[in-house]
Amino acid sequence: MRSRDSYAEPFRIKMIEPIRQKDRKSRDLLIDKAHYNVFNLKAEDVYIDLLTDSGTNAMSANQWAGMMLGDESYAGCANFYHLQDAILDIIGYKYVVPTHQGRAAENILMSMFVGEKQTVLGNMHFDTTEGHIRLRKAEPLNLIIDEGIMPDTNHPFKGNINLVKLEKELKKRGPEQMPLLIMTVTSNSNGGQPVSMENMREASALAKKYGRPLIIDCARFAENCYFIKQRDEAYRDKSIREIARELFSYADGCTMSSKKDALVNIGGFLAFKDNEEWYEKAVQIQICYEGFRTYGGLAGRDLEALARGLYEGTEEDYLEDRIGQVSYLGQKLIEAGVPIMKPIGGHGVFVDGKSFLPHIPQAHLPAQALVVELYREAGIRTIELGTCAFGYVDPETGQEVYPTQDLVRLAVPRRAYTDRHMDIVVRAFEKIAARKDRICGLEITYQAEILRHFTARYKLL
Ligand code: F0G
Repeated sequence: MRSRDSYAEPFRIKMIEPIRQKDRKSRDLLIDKAHYNVFNLKAEDVYIDLLTDSGTNAMSANQWAGMMLGDESYAGCANFYHLQDAILDIIGYKYVVPTHQGRAAENILMSMFVGEKQTVLGNMHFDTTEGHIRLRKAEPLNLIIDEGIMPDTNHPFKGNINLVKLEKELKKRGPEQMPLLIMTVTSNSNGGQPVSMENMREASALAKKYGRPLIIDCARFAENCYFIKQRDEAYRDKSIREIARELFSYADGCTMSSKKDALVNIGGFLAFKDNEEWYEKAVQIQICYEGFRTYGGLAGRDLEALARGLYEGTEEDYLEDRIGQVSYLGQKLIEAGVPIMKPIGGHGVFVDGKSFLPHIPQAHLPAQALVVELYREAGIRTIELGTCAFGYVDPETGQEVYPTQDLVRLAVPRRAYTDRHMDIVVRAFEKIAARKDRICGLEITYQAEILRHFTARYKLL
């Protein structure tokens, strides 16, 4: 990777969207009114929004031009065929089921394959994936390598699945109990960490050996491919698109939240390599929940932006700048002494809440306390991916089950902010660090049964 100061953004800015920073007193009032849950804040009250990199991308002139060519026919719109061609070209899969976003594709997939008391294997499922598995009274099982959850260990592919554990599980129970293997690339929940080509190849061989479909959750596949190119000697001279084609060749299908690497604001799809029977089954569910097979909950113009975004998202100079900006933020935070997940991931920097605020026990939600403090300090919105997002109350014991990690994710929207915004974020951390002993923890006062962090309410302790 070239050093960040040897190149500039591979685009110039044609249109701007004003953002303003509220004063400190207003921010304190607003976060209190929001029950200390940043999902309840109005976006206009946020200065730098790092809540998510999902759907927050800036589209290009080419994508906006494509929006004007939206064919809004109910059936058979031209833009669907453009998308189908783009997916066949970049991913190599023939059967495409558009959906309004990624979780809708997950809903269709789980409806097809998953039933009560089953277990769905994966390297590390994202929270909506887990939600869809649990909704079917099934269990998600994460088999990420041990290094994957060690924040300080430097491993180039921390998204890898533990192949020994995977084979053990596949041997233990048959397809009627374990219907599916899902590989999430990059692995969002432990820091946007990539899966290596070798790991995908071997996971694929095991899935074949034991007769289970392998599905890739490919929300951030382009970023994953960029890391493969950077970190695996064997792929240094291959193009991102060649790497992508090989990666997808090992699986039977994919679900995609296009709001990430396809550089759009809404959209998703489910695609299958060659299984027509699965495709027809998926379409039945798609028609009930999403819409007819050629639009699946999206307008023709959205399908066009998505088709074009898949090409732009796999361009090398775009990816260099994208990953370069996230890395810039991460490096500056390391220099400021902030404990972050290493190596720095693809779509954001993940801060270890427990070690940044060691005086707050996990039961008092250190990562969420840091989320609140970042808003108070500078109007920066981030997200907790730890105890609130992944912990849950065991229905049998009534006890809280804690995840190992308690992280704050600073997700960087694509093409939306400059490095100067990143500098403001670093400065906010420095100020918080100087007074961190006085920061107190939180307690949940309201929670939903599934995906509780979206709607939870908290009080300060
Ligand atoms: N899979 C992964 C790996 C994701 O990161 C997400 C969404 C989804 C599936 C679901 O897609 O939002 O389009 O329905 N992640 C967002 C995030 C919400 O902030 O990381 P969706």
